[in-house]
Amino acid sequence: MAKIAFYGVQPWEQEYLERSLQKHQLTFCPEYLDEKKSLERSDTEIISVFVDSNVSKKIIDLFPSLKFIATRSTGFDHIDLETCKERGIAVSNVPSYGDNTVAEYVFALILALSRKIYIAYEQVREEGDFSYDALQGFDLLGKTMGVIGTGRIGKYTARIAKGFGMRVLAYDIMPDRKFARKIGVTYVSLEELLKESDIVSIHVPYAKETHHLIDKNKMALMKKGAYLINTSRGAVVDTQALVVALKSGQLSGAGLDVLEEEDAIKDEVEFLLNKKVTEHDLRNVIANHILVDIPNVIITPHTAFNTKEALMRILDTTVANINSYLKRKPQNCVN
Ligand code: NAI
Repeated sequence: MAKIAFYGVQPWEQEYLERSLQKHQLTFCPEYLDEKKSLERSDTEIISVFVDSNVSKKIIDLFPSLKFIATRSTGFDHIDLETCKERGIAVSNVPSYGDNTVAEYVFALILALSRKIYIAYEQVREEGDFSYDALQGFDLLGKTMGVIGTGRIGKYTARIAKGFGMRVLAYDIMPDRKFARKIGVTYVSLEELLKESDIVSIHVPYAKETHHLIDKNKMALMKKGAYLINTSRGAVVDTQALVVALKSGQLSGAGLDVLEEEDAIKDEVEFLLNKKVTEHDLRNVIANHILVDIPNVIITPHTAFNTKEALMRILDTTVANINSYLKRKPQNCVN
């Protein structure tokens, strides 16, 4: 019988996990993992978290018996893998639960922007105004979509874009030529993609190499009036540069499901009390607040994954990851 602690789970998820992992001693916390909560779990062998838990060295050190971390997400940049390696802690993720889910959301953001759906909704609801003068949008048919990162989600995004009749350009450090031929996608350099695309959608994981991949210089290369969609990780885009690009008209709009310092926006009091906050962090928080107020910017709270079907797939894979680990045949390990 293993001691397993789940963080950030809702009541329906708890019920499902209790049914699926009956033989084990389970504890549940509805909120994300932080230093205070981890203290109660000092003899826990397995923890399961989502991206809102920052599993830093400090947190890991509070779990002396920890052997396995099952993150209920694809991304794992919220976990200190170096420390896990030193401590011999295995980490698994859910590699594929929402390729279509996130890609569909990309188009929810794109269509909301291209057809001004959010403005139309507010106008009718708040003002009872049924005129369409301020609602003129643009077609996707014939436009160029740039997909940065053609892994699982990027590929699905490219497929949907083709369905809209868009020309699709792609950039990836490991291009999949067979996929490109099959779907009718053209791989180009990042610079060419940025110059040519009317809409750029980012699907690379966050890592040292992708930190501010889209910075001031890259934004200057983008087609004037283009739109930027980011559902990957906030820090892949330089937020301060994005504010400037949007304010100057270099970019016409942005759909952002992820933000740099998005945790700070969620809990500003905690951010304020954190002594390690740098000037850069503070500037990003200010930039985020400016972004929220810029017209043609849609910001959503990291919810692209959030469908009933995707959440079920996440739970199923997490249970399978835990069972495989306990049978000494770990699957979906990222370290
Ligand atoms: P994936 O691992 O299948 O694909 C990532 C692709 O990026 C790969 O083809 C890889 O070669 C490419 N890549 C890596 N570094 C690169 C670089 N420096 N330049 C160009 N290409 C690079 O990942 P998947 O499943 O498509 O997910 C992508 C990201 O989406 C995840 O890492 C995660 O951060 C984010 N995500 C966001 C969600 C949300 O709710 N907003 C939900 C799920 C994932």
